[in-house]
Amino acid sequence: MGGMANRHFGKISDVWKHVALMEAIGLVAPGRYAETHAGSAAYPMVRDSEREFGILRFLEVAPHHPALAGSRYLAAVTPHVRPGQAGHGHEATGTYPGSALLAMTALGNGCSYLFCDLDPHSATGLRHRAAGLGLRHWQVVEADGMLTVRAWLDGAGSQSPRPARGTAIVHIDPFDPHARAPGGLSALEFAGHLATSGTGLVYWYGCDEPGEHAWAYRELYDLTSVSLWCGDIMVTDTGGGGSPGDLGRATTPGTGFGVVLANLPPHVVTACTAVGGALASAYTGVALPGGTRGSLVFTSYCRP
Ligand SMILES: C[S@@+](CC[C@H](N)C(=O)[O-])C[C@H]1O[C@@H](n2cnc3c(N)ncnc32)[C@H](O)[C@@H]1O
Repeated sequence: MGGMANRHFGKISDVWKHVALMEAIGLVAPGRYAETHAGSAAYPMVRDSEREFGILRFLEVAPHHPALAGSRYLAAVTPHVRPGQAGHGHEATGTYPGSALLAMTALGNGCSYLFCDLDPHSATGLRHRAAGLGLRHWQVVEADGMLTVRAWLDGAGSQSPRPARGTAIVHIDPFDPHARAPGGLSALEFAGHLATSGTGLVYWYGCDEPGEHAWAYRELYDLTSVSLWCGDIMVTDTGGGGSPGDLGRATTPGTGFGVVLANLPPHVVTACTAVGGALASAYTGVALPGGTRGSLVFTSYCRP
């Protein structure tokens, strides 16, 4: 079973996930938005080497790169995080918003929401935030995300009225892409099912072997025949060594992560390609969390 909430909040892999997600939902303005693995509404900020490299560096460099300066993510995240100053006695404060809070804030009452998480603490926090934002149409369900979102999209078994029709986007952000609840699908299988059924999809993946980069794109390529886009980011050292990384422990050379999109309009792909390229430019020759120099290599893949 995965961990509780998202211990990786605010790391560079979380930043790229949220940069792309915010472009997708901001441009589409879906009438329905669901998350299979919602996490917590927000996380108390910390200043450590991972967040220095992730959200804190992003906030510093984004204003100098037009595609990042104009990104929906920068506008959404800025009010939450108070970076403080690097060095002793200057802790970052404020919070890092999770994907559910970012989505609720961006889409407001024009959208019906479903957020799933197995962690009771995350579910309670999400309910408080949804209510506090004055949203009318939302559900937070403490159960398997794949089973719950599938039933919600089918309009089955709900006491409340069938969710409003209109464009749906589902964000799938698993710790374990292959874990299955009894009678359910894995995150990756469900992504394939949603893609084939025409639902807007934002799927996050990570890896820690250079040879595995874009692996979720390649697996989804075989699971569905619809068009797909993938924005993959690899962390490299300046030597370009091809060493294995350690996703989930630290952001080291060899770590990689990305998002796969399906059933989203071409201007979303254009926007995500622009912000992905800008993110890599903003991180050229930067000090990695371990202290060595490195870069982010952004590659996009597309099956038309
Ligand atoms: C990576 S975190 C989600 C982060 C969040 N989407 C964000 O971007 O801020 C993964 C979450 O999945 C939850 N989880 C693990 N297995 C699950 C399942 N089968 N169904 C629903 N949630 C699950 C964990 O409790 C954890 O909070």
